[in-house]
Amino acid sequence: MAELLRIENITKKFGNLVANEDVSFSVNEHEIVSLIGPNGAGKTTLFNSISGYYPPTSGKVFFKGQDITGKTAFEICRLGITRTFQVVQTLKEMTVEENVMTGAFLHTGSRKQAQIAAAEILERTGLTEKKNIRGASLTIIDKKRVEIARALATRPQLLMLDECMAGLNQTEIKDVMELCLRLKEEGLSLLVVEHIMEAIMPISDRIVVLNAGKKIAEGLPEEIVNNEEVIKAYLGDRYHAESK
Ligand SMILES: Nc1ncnc2c1ncn2[C@@H]1O[C@H](COP(=O)(O)OP(=O)(O)OP(=O)(O)O)[C@@H](O)[C@H]1O
Ligand SMILES: [Mg+2]
Repeated sequence: MAELLRIENITKKFGNLVANEDVSFSVNEHEIVSLIGPNGAGKTTLFNSISGYYPPTSGKVFFKGQDITGKTAFEICRLGITRTFQVVQTLKEMTVEENVMTGAFLHTGSRKQAQIAAAEILERTGLTEKKNIRGASLTIIDKKRVEIARALATRPQLLMLDECMAGLNQTEIKDVMELCLRLKEEGLSLLVVEHIMEAIMPISDRIVVLNAGKKIAEGLPEEIVNNEEVIKAYLGDRYHAESK
């Protein structure tokens, strides 16, 4: 499997606070890698450094072998990395269709072309019937669907999802899990931040664990759930105990 994303020794400091310290790992083509760890571990910060929201303090980000460290979010998105936000960012005054079209405008200046691209993605994400609803009137699951759909409209090769299952019920979580697996089958790679272990474990090819800014483990889901350090730092009463 070819390597798609590689981060090398990423450190991000906010004043004296070290939010990420010397973090390295990679994501291959057609792979779902999950990034887990306690609140404040530095997961979103790492997403921000990778996606160009801000540059890391030190370290490098490579995408398809190209050094993209310090490039802007727009440039990185054009190259094929798109992320969603932990707090959903639906464009409230726009319809579902228009929300998705804003993603498609990355590759076309034509409204017609953007509409055609959006139509296909609305279908894939189960939003076609809701395309005329305004963003502000959507339920939380549909807001999340719209955010994923808009991200897909930018035609990413790597899709980064930051806690897109939080606040959803069991059925909705299953829907998102199925969507992730379908996207992988279609050829995308995913980097997923999530606290819901029952959702993460079955869909992940590999898992990276952060704690207090540092990578403390990386491995297959079954390795991670049995890793003593991970259980102590994070999984403890959250997953291991339940699965016994
Ligand atoms: N812009 C910022 N300025 C200062 N400190 C920040 C900033 N962003 C994040 N931090 C701090 O960096 C640390 C890591 O935060 P981050 O949001 O990356 O954690 P997280 O793993 O995403 O947590 P959660 O699971 O709660 O979303 C925290 O201590 C946080 O307060
Ligand atoms: Mg976060």
